[in-house]
Amino acid sequence: IERTLSIIKPDATKRNLTGKINAKFEEAGLRIVAQKRIHLSAKQAGQFYAEHAERGFYGELCEFMASEPVVVQVLEGEGAILKNREVMGATNPANAAEGTIRKEFALSVGENSVHGSDSPESAAREISFYFSGLELVG
Ligand code: GTP
Ligand code: MG
Repeated sequence: IERTLSIIKPDATKRNLTGKINAKFEEAGLRIVAQKRIHLSAKQAGQFYAEHAERGFYGELCEFMASEPVVVQVLEGEGAILKNREVMGATNPANAAEGTIRKEFALSVGENSVHGSDSPESAAREISFYFSGLELVG
């Protein structure tokens, strides 16, 4: 059974959408096996998104992720990584399919409500960035 790291981003926590977004995960058969609300510093956001350090939007992305609390969570299920990315929808909400989280809730390509790991390697790295083994309750 697979696990993936999910983040409910500042634009969504600010608008009180945590419950509605979690309902989407649960309806899709994803189980929330760990979850906590944290407020990242810009430095921590920068470490988490280090792979994007060379991209033009990196500074803006880190500042945004540190602007309000986020909810970090581990989702578990069959094919959880891909399934979560389907539920999330395309990065840019203008391209996101009907019924996806980003179609319903995202404000823009930057303020796009959720993050999800994109591979087994990034899921392992990202889960251990935020959680210890003791915090994962299958
Ligand atoms: P994540 O699940 O958040 O990683 O999204 P993704 O995999 O769909 O997108 P990607 O990894 O390419 O980009 C990471 C994040 O950077 C996106 O989710 C956006 O929040 C942000 N981002 C991507 N492109 C832009 C952009 O053109 N402008 C801004 N401001 N942010 C962007
Ligand atoms: Mg990504």
